[in-house]
Amino acid sequence: MRQKIIMDVDTGIDDSLGLLYVLASPEAELLGIVSTAGNVSAPQVATNNLALLELCRAPDIEVALGADTPLAIPLQTTEDTHGPQGIGYAEFPLPPRRISPRSGAQLWVDLVREHPGEIVGLCTGPLTNLALALRIEPRLPQLLGRLVVMGGAFNHPGNTTPTNEWNVHVDPEAWQEVFAAFAAAPADRRPLVCGLDITETIEMVPDHLARLAERARSVPEHEVSETDTPGTRSKASNPIVRFLTDAVRFYFEFHRHYDQGYLAHMHDPFAAAVALDPGLARTRAATVEVELGGTITRGTTVADWAGMWGREPNADIVIGTDPAVFFDRLIERVGDFARTVYPDR
Ligand code: RIB
Ligand code: CA
Repeated sequence: MRQKIIMDVDTGIDDSLGLLYVLASPEAELLGIVSTAGNVSAPQVATNNLALLELCRAPDIEVALGADTPLAIPLQTTEDTHGPQGIGYAEFPLPPRRISPRSGAQLWVDLVREHPGEIVGLCTGPLTNLALALRIEPRLPQLLGRLVVMGGAFNHPGNTTPTNEWNVHVDPEAWQEVFAAFAAAPADRRPLVCGLDITETIEMVPDHLARLAERARSVPEHEVSETDTPGTRSKASNPIVRFLTDAVRFYFEFHRHYDQGYLAHMHDPFAAAVALDPGLARTRAATVEVELGGTITRGTTVADWAGMWGREPNADIVIGTDPAVFFDRLIERVGDFARTVYPDR
């Protein structure tokens, strides 16, 4: 039995690697993709999702458009991090595939009602559309098999303000509504949270791309070096490798610009790998709240590890993993996938 998955993404460079990871995983059955505004606008996210499915010669997986704005505040996007289209230096032709007539929130609701208890929900962007789905169907936490989210920072600095993480920063009210709704979930269905504490240890470097190109039998294998002229475009023979290289190069340059090194934090594909195999992560239960009223701390996720608030935990927070195991799995799956989709390139 394949694992049924809904992905809710703000594609985004690392979101696209998360989608590739799931598409490349034979044990996953991707039922639908919700396009959430975050890194770029919701329509741009949806276009990126449709175009990525086309690039991957994937089946007609439903792609739904999410809300234009967060629950309570104007949308803030981050083209400086992910590029003008949200996919770094990569450029997609307009996809021939069409967007779903259902909204992102309705897609969540319809799928969990159709497959009660079977679906893993994987969120790698703001939780806006999951929160809207919960308003339509309050039973969603009982109807969803498991929720895995990329977001938050717990005993770790933020990446958007000194204390908050981007996906929460864009829509803090959504995070609060989702985690309040899941507070009643049984212990084995608590949201599994991949925060910056761990995802900032998932550091992709050029050698990972070279290994993936080699696995895909794409040439040339070694295309990216920190001495390259910024914006150099890939000449990889395999179209999926070419896309990945152009997307991730932008991310390498972004992280270097902020003195983090010529590397890229692979937040979202790590969350995808955990969604398919929770055994990759060590977790610790905690009660999580997000600061909504703070001036300098708004959007900060707070974990009560020791039960000081006297409430049951509502989250399992990832506190450990082995990045090398993850990268071996990413390279093997996506490299083999790229070669299978384009065997003659
Ligand atoms: O903070 C990192 C997260 O924000 C990732 O999901 C990235 O894609 C952005 O959405
Ligand atoms: Ca994302």
